[in-house]
Amino acid sequence: MKISVSLGDVATVEDSVVIVNLFEGVTNPGGATGVVNNHLDGAITNLIGQGEIKGKNGEITLIHTLGKLPVERVIVLGLGKHDQFGLDVVRAVSAQVIRYVGKLGIKSASTIVHGAGIGNFKVAEAAYALAEGSILGLYQFGKYKSDSDSEDKFEHLRIIELDGSKLGDLEQGVSKGTITANAVNYCRDMVNEPANVMTPTKMSECALEIAKENNVSVEVHDRSFMEDMDMGALIGVTQGSHEPPKLIVLKYCPNPEKSSTIGLLGKGITFDSGGLDLKSASGMREMKGDMAGGAAVIACIKGIAELGLQTNVTAIVPATENMPALRAQRPGDVVKTMSGKTIEIDNTDAEGRLVLADAITYARSIGIDRIVDVATLTGAIVTALGKGYTGLFGNDASWTEDVVNASKLSGENMWELPMPDEYKLQYTSDIADIKNTGGRAAGSITAALIIREFASGCSWVHMDIAGTSMTGSTKGYNPKGPTGVPVRTLIEFISSLDE
Ligand code: BES
Ligand code: ZN
Ligand code: MN
Repeated sequence: MKISVSLGDVATVEDSVVIVNLFEGVTNPGGATGVVNNHLDGAITNLIGQGEIKGKNGEITLIHTLGKLPVERVIVLGLGKHDQFGLDVVRAVSAQVIRYVGKLGIKSASTIVHGAGIGNFKVAEAAYALAEGSILGLYQFGKYKSDSDSEDKFEHLRIIELDGSKLGDLEQGVSKGTITANAVNYCRDMVNEPANVMTPTKMSECALEIAKENNVSVEVHDRSFMEDMDMGALIGVTQGSHEPPKLIVLKYCPNPEKSSTIGLLGKGITFDSGGLDLKSASGMREMKGDMAGGAAVIACIKGIAELGLQTNVTAIVPATENMPALRAQRPGDVVKTMSGKTIEIDNTDAEGRLVLADAITYARSIGIDRIVDVATLTGAIVTALGKGYTGLFGNDASWTEDVVNASKLSGENMWELPMPDEYKLQYTSDIADIKNTGGRAAGSITAALIIREFASGCSWVHMDIAGTSMTGSTKGYNPKGPTGVPVRTLIEFISSLDE
């Protein structure tokens, strides 16, 4: 889909459809909606009077203009209650309306910018949210379908604006929204790919592709490097798989003279069978998505490079399968991490923390002292927070707060959980420094505490996205399937460091 910005007017625009809007409770619309209403001899106010149009969030009313306007149809899009309106509402309703238009088989539409005239936020921000929501909402993964749906065929969204002085800001917003949404969709594509395609090797090829297109450097390390680096925890997880593991290091370095680099670490388990502690059939079904954290940090590099942000950022992804084959690690094995700490394998299905432990130590060995890790880490996070909030953990209050603030702007819900030191007792081992699980109680917290063991001395935030990386049904700008969380928060966060 192409999104363009042009000087224009709802009364004169020629297109298949023009989208105007209405807040809940408004009976006498002004602005573009009022102009359309006048040309349609009060059709909109009549429908409001009859109760058919209420302006509820996401409500869509299609009106045929039958020659009363040059445009063939008008859609009145509900924006919901004025006091609940914000950028995330703009994203969601933009997504809903574009999917609706696409389903009608319409290829092009014109729209006004929702919220630009209200003063809640800047014109550029409104255009950013509209573009982002539209691209995110139209996302489909049709690659393996012989014939794909009609929504695919939507081609052109025109943003029309009466005031010529706003066009520059609108263009800028559209450009930012397009870049971030495309980064999210890149992540979604990676997660949607089946595990027989999205292997660790394929993940490294994605990183190479992004590096090539964006002047980013990349290193892909194989098993022998992991052995040389004494990454015993990562190697233990890879052991049961025939698929060669990769340690992917993607370096965006716009300011080489600045030594400071942020590390974004992503869990890259391309399939999590559980290992010898094999998962149940239903528990295993979604486990091609256990590399969503890795996909997110790779996609984030794409986004920040295209935006031209000025902070040095390195994405690190330990990519491997977790399989129960011949040489698989056993419950009770002891592995020695790159840091020197030893871990007793209590459960081979608690593999994410193992690969992240060595990834963090590696990040620190190359001079990274501020880290955000992203992982589909625990089923327990769904018990704690449901599927609407990413669990957030950190060892540095101000660094964590910066990430939370970025998530508020992106609209990706996150909630910080505590990390009480007492809970460390849950993962003491009889024979090693620690074991890799902390029992049933507070499973997400003990998992985070285990990772924190390897992050002392640096600022570290951990995001548990096991509940939020996938959605079971289409809602707002997230079609059923991978959401691409937390790509937009990460991009927002790195952007905030430029200011
Ligand atoms: N990849 C899973 C976590 C997961 C569960 C992600 C559901 C997405 C949806 C992780 O590797 C895992 O298996 N965790 C175990 C830990 C346990 C053995 C301590 C879990 O959550 O059951
Ligand atoms: Zn896993
Ligand atoms: Mn697992």
